[in-house]
Order: sequence, then structure tokens, then C-alpha cells
Amino acid sequence: MAPLLDVCQLTVELPTPSGWVRPVNDVSFQLAPGETLGLVGESGCGKTMLSLALMGLLPPGARRAGEAWLAARNAGGAGRLNVVALGDRELVALRGREIGMVFQEPMTALNPVLRIGVQVEEAIRAHLPHSGRGGSAPGPGEIGRRALQALERAAVPEPQLRARQFPHQLSGGLRQRAMIAMALAADPQILIADEPTTALDVTVQKQILELLARLRRELGLGLLFITHDLGVVAQVADRLAVMYAGRIVEEGPVVEVLRRPRHPYTEGLLRASPQLRRRKLEPIAGVVPRLDALPPGCAFEPRCPYRRAECAAAVPELRLAAPEHRARCILVEPVVEEVTR
Ligand SMILES: Nc1ncnc2c1ncn2[C@@H]1O[C@H](COP(=O)(O)OP(=O)(O)OP(=O)(O)O)[C@@H](O)[C@H]1O
Ligand code: SF4
Ligand SMILES: [Mg+2]
Repeated sequence: MAPLLDVCQLTVELPTPSGWVRPVNDVSFQLAPGETLGLVGESGCGKTMLSLALMGLLPPGARRAGEAWLAARNAGGAGRLNVVALGDRELVALRGREIGMVFQEPMTALNPVLRIGVQVEEAIRAHLPHSGRGGSAPGPGEIGRRALQALERAAVPEPQLRARQFPHQLSGGLRQRAMIAMALAADPQILIADEPTTALDVTVQKQILELLARLRRELGLGLLFITHDLGVVAQVADRLAVMYAGRIVEEGPVVEVLRRPRHPYTEGLLRASPQLRRRKLEPIAGVVPRLDALPPGCAFEPRCPYRRAECAAAVPELRLAAPEHRARCILVEPVVEEVTR
């Protein structure tokens, strides 16, 4: 099946007092309809920056390179749009309509002084094909009805009551459901969920994960699920991409990567994961390198228990370790061919 999203060598550069840094560095992946790609890595490895680059929401002064092809419904005859090449106006049209996003803390994304229903209505109105042109635009009654439907779809109980309430009157779990309703209000094909359950307690977290899984199935969404929690990713993802210092260092089917990690960093994450580790937890020694002081070769080299002299010579390519399973480490014996993406 043709991918919904085909990201090729995406790089994000940000200006800092010590020069340009690359929080996202040469990242490539694909996302198919109905598929969940889990994106994991320690804090600061570039997960959020990658999703912001796809949404066109990077900080001022940022520059992007590479390609991110979206199988957009409004791409005209082309069928695909390169998000990286779009201007601000086109990106505004794309957000919500083609790609929706939910964040870790819905309070920062919701407007505290607007009722929930009004905010969902806004999300719907922003993407109506005829909005602002009069005539065929749906009236307020119809938009209100659609907003209630969107809340129902996100399993918000008593949607009419909740629509009249303000964000602070909702629990964390309900706020996240309201965010999901807003993110899906314009029927995007792709949903990016950035740590959507991190701030929630375990029971509510499970409910939100089940909701996302159901919506993905029913709507055929491509879901990019960002988390630092390997236990969560094991529950929701089909494939897993592991990021370190801006690069994908391992990618493959989630069961295989978790059972048989090929990159020492993934191995380290598993040993340090309270959700998946039955034996004693072993935190990864050392810290993530600063983006303005990356090691010359493999970025994990200063922390890697298997490092050798040649690891510092050049950044390792992604190597095919098993069918559809790649890792960026010189210890991987390539099974078929060495690949560059
Ligand atoms: N405006 C900025 N200017 C320069 N560097 C920035 C800026 N914003 C973020 N960064 C850096 O970009 C890198 C990637 O940050 P990002 O927020 O994407 O990480 P993350 O993987 O989402 O982390 P977390 O798990 O904590 O959410 C970090 O090293 C961060 O310090
Ligand atoms: S390339 Fe070398 S330093 Fe990097 S992860 Fe592999 S063994 Fe460790
Ligand atoms: Mg983040």
C-alpha cells in the first residue's frame, strides 16, 4: 500500500549562539494507512522537533532540508505534497486537515477561556472547504452538531454537557479526549500523538491508548506515536523507530526490535525500562551529548559498552539487520545490503 507519509532525509537546523545545530538529522521513514509507528528516545533526542517539522510549526529561524511527502487529498493531480517545500499559508491549510496533532499536556494546547464545544467548532470551521465563501457553508447548527459528533467519537461522556464547559472543568483524561476530538475534527489521515498519555495516571493512560487504537482502526489513520516509554510503545505500535541525538538509530517491527535489539542504545533503553525489564534496572551510563558538541562518529560512542576505535571515525550508516529491521551500528552484519536510509 502506498504510504501516507514518506519522509526522506529530513533535517532540521536551529540557530544557537554556538552555531547551527541539528535536532533532526537525516531522518527517513514511512507511515502506511492504519499503521502505528512508535518513535522513542531519551529527552532531547528530537522527537518533538521532528513532529513540529512535519506540521510546519518549528521555532523562528529554523530551517528544514530533505523531503516529507504526504499523500494529500487536496494535492490536486499530483497526489502527493512535499511538506518541506510548502509555504506558511499552505501549511496552515494542511494542519488539521491532513495531519492532526495531540500533545502531552492538553492545557497548553486548549484555550483556557473558551468552552470546549466552541474550540471543537473552531477546529471544524477552519477546514471547511467553503468556509468564508458564503452560500454552501454549513450553518452554526450543523457545525455544532458535528462538534458533538467529534466529542462522541473521542468517547467523551455527556458530550453536550462537556461542550459547554471550560478546559479547567475537565479531568486530564477528558481534556486529552477533547484534544483528540479537535485533532480529528477535520478528518485528517495522519495523527501525531506526542507523549499523549505521559501526564495521565495508569488507568486513564490505558483508556486513551485504547481510544487511539480504536480510532486508528476505524478511520484507517496513520499514527505517529511519540513516547519515551517502551512499555507503551509495545502496546500500541506496529513498527518502532529509535532516535538518538537527532538520528534514527534503529527501526523495525516493534516485536522484533524489542525482542532482539540490534543497536546498543536500544538495548540500553530496554535494560532501563521499568515496564519491560523483569530484572534489575540498569540506567544507561553517561548523558546524551549536546547537539553543538556531538562526537565525530557514532553519537552513542561515549556511552557505548561495545565501542571500538573505528566507531569514532564516521557516522555509521543504517544497516539491514533482518528484513525490514535496520540499525546504525558497525557491529550489525548486514544481511542483504547496506542501505543509506
Ligand atoms: N529553540 C531551540 N533552539 C535550539 N535548540 C532547541 C530549541 N528547541 C529545542 N532545542 C533542542 O532540540 C533538541 C530536540 O528537542 P525535542 O524537544 O525535539 O526533544 P524530545 O525528544 O521531544 O524530548 P522530550 O522527550 O523531552 O520531549 C534538544 O536538544 C533541545 O535542546
Ligand atoms: S557504532 Fe560503535 S559506538 Fe556506535 S553503537 Fe555501534 S558499537 Fe557502539
Ligand atoms: Mg518532546
